[in-house]
Amino acid sequence: MGRMAGNILHISKGEKKLLSNRMPVVAIDIGTNFIKLVHLQAKRRGHELLSYGTMPLPPGVIEEGAIVDPDVVIQAVKDLMKIEKIGIKNVVTAVSGTSVIIKKIKVPPMSENELIDAIQFEAGQYIPFDIEDVNLDFVVMETPNDQREADQMDVLLVAVTKEKMNELTTILSRAGLKVAVVDVDVFAIENAFGLNYTVSPDDTIALMDIGAGVTNINILEYGISAFTRDIYFGGMKYNEAIMQQLDVDYETAEKLKLGNETNGHSSAEVYDIINSVTNELSMEINRALEVFRGSSEAPITKIMLGGGCARMMGLDQALATNLETQVEIFNPFQTIRCNPKVFDPEYIEYMAPSAAVGVGLALRRFGDR
Ligand SMILES: Nc1ncnc2c1ncn2[C@@H]1O[C@H](COP(=O)(O)OP(=O)(O)OP(=O)(O)O)[C@@H](O)[C@H]1O
Ligand SMILES: [Mg+2]
Repeated sequence: MGRMAGNILHISKGEKKLLSNRMPVVAIDIGTNFIKLVHLQAKRRGHELLSYGTMPLPPGVIEEGAIVDPDVVIQAVKDLMKIEKIGIKNVVTAVSGTSVIIKKIKVPPMSENELIDAIQFEAGQYIPFDIEDVNLDFVVMETPNDQREADQMDVLLVAVTKEKMNELTTILSRAGLKVAVVDVDVFAIENAFGLNYTVSPDDTIALMDIGAGVTNINILEYGISAFTRDIYFGGMKYNEAIMQQLDVDYETAEKLKLGNETNGHSSAEVYDIINSVTNELSMEINRALEVFRGSSEAPITKIMLGGGCARMMGLDQALATNLETQVEIFNPFQTIRCNPKVFDPEYIEYMAPSAAVGVGLALRRFGDR
C-alpha cells in the first residue's frame, strides 16, 4: 500500500501522541460541488465502509478553491454529519490548489528530527511564500536505490498557507468538529490508489481527479509520486459554457450536461459545446503532462480517472484519444467491503470515482504525520 503522506496541521519532533491513533476519524472532503463524507473501519482483513454521504453546495459557494460563503459550508457539513448519524468529532480533511506548494528536494541522509530542523531553515528557498505565512511538512520518499543519487535523500516538502489552514479549521470547528489531520488532495488519491491497485514498477500511472472546480494530477513513477499539479479546470467549465452559449441557468445547464433533458435544445447543440470544453480540458491536462515529460523519460502507461467528471459519458474515451494514453476509471471502493444490505452496489459503483479523495482521507489515522 502507498505511503501515508504528511499532516500539515503541524510539524513536530517525534512527540508522544497525546491521543491514541486508534481514535476514530471521519473524512470530510470539501469539494466545489459536493461535500463528501467517508467513514471506514480498518479490520484485520481489510477495510469496511461504514458511511458514505454527499451534500451538494450551490454554485458560487466555493470558487477556485476559496470558500466564499463559509456559513453554507458549515451548515452542509452539519447536515451531512446528522444525516449520516456520525457521532465522531475528529475529522480528516484536505487542501488543494494554490494554497499548497509541493516540492521535491534532495538532502543529505539525516534523521527525521534533524530533517525537521533543516526543513525550517531551508524551506524558504524552495517556496514562494514567506515561511511565517505557511505550515510546513515533509515526507521522506521511498525512492528505489537505483533511481536515487548516492548520499541523497528525496524529500517531498509540503507548504500550506496559514490562511487556508485557518479557514478550514475555523469552518470545521464552527460545525462542531475537530481537525485531526489536514492532508492534500493529490496525496489522498495516491493513498486511495495504493489501497486498491497494485502496479508493476515499470508502470507510470497518472492519477487524475476531475472535480467541479479543480483537476488534481499525481503521476506515480516507480510507484512513488514524481509530479503533482492542481489545475483550476473541472466540470463547472461545461456548465459555464452551456449557460453562456444556450442562455440557460445553472440547473438547466447541469441537466443538459448530464443528458437528462434537452430543454428545447437539440442534443447536437449540447454535444458540440461539451466536445469543445473536453478539448480545452485535454489541452490543460496535456500542458501539465508536458511538464512531467520534460523531467522524465518514462512514458505514461495509464491514466486513472476519478472525480465526478469520470462519470461523464465518453470523457474517458475522449481523454484517451486526445492524450494518447489508456484511461481507466478509478474505483477507490474496489477492495473495500461495502455491505450490500447497507449500500446499494449500483449506487456505490456510480459514486465511486468521486469518492477517491474521501477514501484516501479516511485511511488516515488520528495523530498521523
Ligand atoms: N454523470 C455525469 N456526467 C457529467 N458530469 C458529471 C456527472 N456526474 C457528476 N458530474 C460532474 O462532476 C462534478 C462534481 O464532481 P466532484 O464531486 O468530484 O467535484 P468536487 O469534489 O465537488 O469539486 P472539486 O474537487 O473540483 O472542488 C460536477 O461538475 C458534476 O456536474
Ligand atoms: Mg473533489
